Amino acid sequence: MSVPTPPAVAVTVDHVDLAYPKSPAVLTDVHLTVPTGEHLAVIGRSGCGKSTLLHLIGGLLAPTAGEISVLGDTDPTARPSHCALMPQGDSMLPWFSVRDNVAVPLRNRGVSRRVARGRATAMLERCGLGDWATSRPSELSGGMRQRAALARALLADKPVLLADEPLGALDAITRGEIQDWLSELLTGTGATLVMVTHDVDEALLLADRVILLADGAVAGDWPGWFSRRAGRPRSEILADPDFAAARAEILRCLGGYGEAVA
Ligand SMILES: Nc1ncnc2c1ncn2[C@@H]1O[C@H](COP(=O)(O)OP(=O)(O)OP(=O)(O)O)[C@@H](O)[C@H]1O
Ligand SMILES: [Mg+2]
Repeated sequence: MSVPTPPAVAVTVDHVDLAYPKSPAVLTDVHLTVPTGEHLAVIGRSGCGKSTLLHLIGGLLAPTAGEISVLGDTDPTARPSHCALMPQGDSMLPWFSVRDNVAVPLRNRGVSRRVARGRATAMLERCGLGDWATSRPSELSGGMRQRAALARALLADKPVLLADEPLGALDAITRGEIQDWLSELLTGTGATLVMVTHDVDEALLLADRVILLADGAVAGDWPGWFSRRAGRPRSEILADPDFAAARAEILRCLGGYGEAVA
């Protein structure tokens, strides 16, 4: 039996507008294609519509105009089978153990509690949280909670991972460590990633492509460094003059839209 090959394009946002009820349009004529396996980072000032774009791709919102297709499928009700969405904030359920939080996507698919817990424990171990499986989320640090939320999104094992500021609100050192950890975890998975971040270094380090959302549309598009990194330590990459030039160019464009982002 032949294994079906995935479509070459994972996500198409085809001239999409989005206006919330009784509000001016947030997105106007956003056009974007994300090839299968690409890691795309979306940056832009607060309120420019980054989460809105992720929610549209995830099928939580319907476009006011235009069309979205994921893996060639325009039916939004099929989105949960194509996409795992890690919303802004870790959204861990406080009354569940860490393990049961991570097991939620499997339980929602009808996997038995025993099997789901076993797979959640294995994923937590992979994420360095094996000792915390039976703890409550409130017992974890912010960085550990975000790793657990990532473990939950990864366990969903969907071809498209949508992550809204997955490493937001972490201190710089923890953030750097988790970026390295995530980079290793994503290497060679073939998953398509659409990630929102405020951090330009993070966008360049974790993505193959970085886009800037401004004035309701895609206002900039640059190559990222995920595949160019090739095992080099982050300190070396951050000191690379080409990396510094890419960062400076993106910051200059962001500054043009009224926000200084580091
Ligand atoms: N449910 C909603 N109803 C009405 N307006 C909304 C709703 N959700 C978001 N908005 C508005 O849409 C705009 C874009 O919001 P969105 O959350 O997509 O921005 P963002 O780029 O993700 O911002 P941040 O970086 O602060 O997370 C904002 O002006 C926001 O107030
Ligand atoms: Mg947001």
